[in-house]
Amino acid sequence: MLQPRVKASKCLVSAFKRVFRPSLQVWARRRCNVAAIMPEAAGFEGVSDHNNLQEYSVSNSESFWAAAARQRLSWIRPFHTVHDCDLSRGKIRWFDGGKLNVSVNCLDRHVHACPERVALIWEKDEPGSEVKVTYRQLLEMTCRLGNLLRRRGVRRGDVVTIYMPPCPLAVASMLACARIGAAHNVVFAGFSAQALADRIRDAQSSTVITVNQGVRGGKVAELKRTVDTAVHSCPTVQQVLVAMRTENPVAMTAKDVAMEEEMLQEDVVCEPEAMDSEDILFLLYTSGSTGTPKGLVHTQAGYLLYAALTHRYVFSYHDGDVFGCVADIGWITGHSYGIYGPLANGGTTVLFESTPLYPDPGRYWEMVQRLKINQFYGAPTAIRLLLKYGDRWVQKYDRSTLKTLGSVGEPINTEAWEWYHRVVGDGRCTVVDTWWQTETGGICISPRPSGPDAEIVPGMAMRPFFGIKPAIMDPEGNVLASNHASGALCLSQPWPGMARTIHNNHQRFVETYCQPYPGYFHTGDGASRSEEGYYQITGRLDDVINVSGHRIGTAEIEDVVNQCDAVAESAVIGYSHEIKGEGVYVFVVLKKDVEVDEAELSRQLNVMVSKKIAKYACPDCVQLVQGLPKTRSGKIMRRVLRKVAERDFNSLGDLSTLDDPAVVQKIIQGHRDRSKKEQQQQTP
Ligand code: WT7
Repeated sequence: MLQPRVKASKCLVSAFKRVFRPSLQVWARRRCNVAAIMPEAAGFEGVSDHNNLQEYSVSNSESFWAAAARQRLSWIRPFHTVHDCDLSRGKIRWFDGGKLNVSVNCLDRHVHACPERVALIWEKDEPGSEVKVTYRQLLEMTCRLGNLLRRRGVRRGDVVTIYMPPCPLAVASMLACARIGAAHNVVFAGFSAQALADRIRDAQSSTVITVNQGVRGGKVAELKRTVDTAVHSCPTVQQVLVAMRTENPVAMTAKDVAMEEEMLQEDVVCEPEAMDSEDILFLLYTSGSTGTPKGLVHTQAGYLLYAALTHRYVFSYHDGDVFGCVADIGWITGHSYGIYGPLANGGTTVLFESTPLYPDPGRYWEMVQRLKINQFYGAPTAIRLLLKYGDRWVQKYDRSTLKTLGSVGEPINTEAWEWYHRVVGDGRCTVVDTWWQTETGGICISPRPSGPDAEIVPGMAMRPFFGIKPAIMDPEGNVLASNHASGALCLSQPWPGMARTIHNNHQRFVETYCQPYPGYFHTGDGASRSEEGYYQITGRLDDVINVSGHRIGTAEIEDVVNQCDAVAESAVIGYSHEIKGEGVYVFVVLKKDVEVDEAELSRQLNVMVSKKIAKYACPDCVQLVQGLPKTRSGKIMRRVLRKVAERDFNSLGDLSTLDDPAVVQKIIQGHRDRSKKEQQQQTP
């Protein structure tokens, strides 16, 4: 904690300066340099520039994270142990002994310092109708909601499911959970009733919070109705709090609670729960390569510290800046950089309810001008989409407030990166391609922070954040030591923001992340490292695909496809897609005697996938095949299908282990016929 300043008498100071001037200058320069990079690091011995601060943070991770945690977070009781981790067993504990409350860190302390500062700018669907919420107002909302949840029986350790679009009440709901010690489980409001129900059941939630209707891109979504359907198959749910996003009344059942009305009855003071550092803050479901989505668990202190620090240093966020992260609150990006990072830093953050094309392709940049956004954080898929509409939609608007442009969720191709830099940023903004995952809690690899003149290579995440030590592995599990290398990306030591477990399934956590390379955190991504030591992420190495920056397991889609009456078996593959990054390609073998053409089957599968998962997971291509390429042991050889979907017919690799190699030529022929038909349909 900061010590009070003691005033020294003038003559004492000058005598001191005379005697100690030379050494004082060196000391002052050192101290000053590090403090300029990162005030939290001011006391670190021998650290004078960014590079040695990064090295220090990795080799002295205890003292690095202890200093950061003491200075950046407000503790109710200080921690006694910085970390206690054993990656090989999936044991990850940070800041044991410490007690704190995340909502106090995100709200109360800023209300004391500057109550009228704007915490949230709710950028509603209709441009120009934004709503600003100050720290004082957000605290009041959070407290009323915390009291309401408590009065309605929500206790410390319970899981509350939140199915809401980005809006202040959604943020207040998350913070109210944090205030009373409940864990939140935000489900992206684009998920179907069935996907929502799966997540409510797995989380064993008894309380759900939602809105009557959502509004996005000028369209109304019946979110409450989706919740009603979901709750039918969730016996644990006892109550549904319903906020009114629109004025249209919806049918209320005996379980439903009119949220705003009841909040008005509550007190504006709500005693925060003193939480242990390792108590659960939230669950967030994400897809894996096998099985059902997994509820990753993030805890209190480590997560908040990591979100706050990365938000400040990756984006160079300064007091008074307006931070514009356009990710939905249903994804980890919305959690860490829409809400927790900016609020822990006392920042002003934008909640974006709309889409990049509503009402026209100038939406983002019109918003940047109107809200005077300083850091803009978005997904490559949107950049690629907007690029197609041309520069004039960008140039129409004043973007002079922008300083940093961030990209997240999938690799950003050079063309999109260059356009982002040259057109959106007028060539004068720092562009940061940030790599991380739901599992990592916050950004792990990104071009900044680094020295002010350090180069940034287009389309590369480049440099590990403080405390992050990447490793590249060969298929045998050896660490590739030389700079120039490519292989499986692992992280060699724990960091405070990492997920702690999978809800109700620690075994799966250990098997997925800790066992593939014992002692390392296995990310599932491939990466290469250049001579200079810069990292480039090449994409997933497992059966997870990334559609418009959203993660989905091919097995999850196959599950749905196989439920279709006509389908005998199927294989789902990701293939390069101009806008989405990856598209969904489905190879289907029909049941005997079933007759349906590709177009009709494609329609049916689209309906099923959007009903059972979400719209974004819908197939882009459906190809009927007579058989799938299988090895003699019955395993589908996916790499062959991937080559076909990519039209890369000449490097299919070794097919000798296939049970029936002839199947491959038939699939290729089918693909060609399909493309021909498509072309004919396009040319009238
Ligand atoms: C997967 C994680 C990170 C928040 C949003 C997505 C891919 C993420 C990048 C990037 C290349 C990236 C990876 C990762 N990914 N950022 N900058 N360059 N790929 O979170 O849904 O947990 O997905 O997204 O494949 O494993 P997520």
